[in-house]
Amino acid sequence: MKSDEIMDIALRRGFIYPSSEIYGGISGFYDYGHLGTLMRRKWEDTWRKHYLSLNPNYFEVDATNIMPKNVFIGSGHLENFTDPLTECEKCHSRFRADHLVEECLERCAEGLSAEEMSGLIKESEIPCPKCGGKLLDVKMFNMMFELSVGSTGDSETAYLRPETAQGAFLNFKRSFNTLRGKLPIGLAIIGRAYRNEISPRQGFYRLREFNQAELQIFFDPDTIDEHPDFEKIKDVSLRMFPLQNRSSGEVDEVKASELHKNYGIPKFYIYHLVKIQEFYLDKMNFPKELFRFRELSEDERAFYNKIHWDVELYTESLGGYKEMGGLHYRTDYDLSGHQKASGEKLEVNIEGKKMVPHVLELSFGVDRNFWTLLDVFYTDEGDRKLISLPKEVAPFRAGVFPLQKKEELENIAKNIYERLSKWFDLFYDDSGSIGRRYRRQDEIGTPFGITVDFQTIEDNTVTIRERDSMEQKRVKVEEIWKNI
Ligand code: GLY
Repeated sequence: MKSDEIMDIALRRGFIYPSSEIYGGISGFYDYGHLGTLMRRKWEDTWRKHYLSLNPNYFEVDATNIMPKNVFIGSGHLENFTDPLTECEKCHSRFRADHLVEECLERCAEGLSAEEMSGLIKESEIPCPKCGGKLLDVKMFNMMFELSVGSTGDSETAYLRPETAQGAFLNFKRSFNTLRGKLPIGLAIIGRAYRNEISPRQGFYRLREFNQAELQIFFDPDTIDEHPDFEKIKDVSLRMFPLQNRSSGEVDEVKASELHKNYGIPKFYIYHLVKIQEFYLDKMNFPKELFRFRELSEDERAFYNKIHWDVELYTESLGGYKEMGGLHYRTDYDLSGHQKASGEKLEVNIEGKKMVPHVLELSFGVDRNFWTLLDVFYTDEGDRKLISLPKEVAPFRAGVFPLQKKEELENIAKNIYERLSKWFDLFYDDSGSIGRRYRRQDEIGTPFGITVDFQTIEDNTVTIRERDSMEQKRVKVEEIWKNI
């Protein structure tokens, strides 16, 4: 199976490892190895450059992972951030009730209440998938990890953040003032988030500790149907999968301007759909057939969203189209919620106009994007395994190889490695046949191989081998940087 093949490379070569493995670990927790860490950082850097360049008033900030209980009263997570849970009376295993209903009864469970799901489980006598025992009534389970901060006696209840977004809302007022009081203002956070998933499955897709890259854009709600650059993007075709296409499964190619006219989606929202699609198709090189925006119904939307289209990529190892991110029109839900719960005024005054800004959120799961890159760009060609990662996110830009273990070749190769390492992540390898060394780099997605051979001693040129075509060309040592 493809997922086993990718996991094999990921473990064997150092992309990811099960966390706390020597103690048996816990499902839903993974560590990043040396290649994974390089690749994830590069994905995050590409994300940062792409989205923060959309407006000079968009910046990255950072916030703590632990926040007091009142934050999550204000945000609504304490009340609403729940999943339906059922437990086996006999073996006490716990399951997502909606997933069981969907799998066993082949029907959609979105929007069903705990009572309705309990009823369906009883009526259809759905047994415990582990031991066949009887399943108990469905309860709503809050997915946040609770903590106690401080010593016993004066300890305070706190939670690990379930989304990075809250940090941006809590810092909004200070950021707005320090950034000279303009709208729109964008606050991005890339960092960890935590969800106590009932039964995380699908390996690296649904994690309990995971990484998010989110951009919260605060804007004047009266300007939602405008964007200064809309004219520039109005003819871009977007790959849309609206609710009405659910039964046909068809993706519509819709021009940005038609999306505004026919679907009634506001221009500010459409502009960001275009920029998200650009990130996936132009920056990450995903084939467009694998990409779509999926509209969510009212029942499926997160509790804070008014307009919500997920960003999906077809990921074979995960069984089909999977959510990589979402574009969420959160309205003033968050700032008004925090204003009410904290008593702190979060409205702004722009030239005499007072308002609580609205929020458009661009939210992405970093780990699942990482996995999908490995999945989509992986090929087994029989005599070589290959991951054709875009060069911006490949862990190493190039391998540097002396053709043979001979001092005169090694000295030149080491010199090239040292000089170019200032600009690129490179891997130096002098062991094994050159063919094997190329294969080892193909398997981890390294786009180029730079080989120092005997001709190098004579004319100061090296060969540069391109990963996907395996074609080689000779270039001068001082021009390598232009060719990788
Ligand atoms: N911040 C949105 C999400 O975590 O899905």
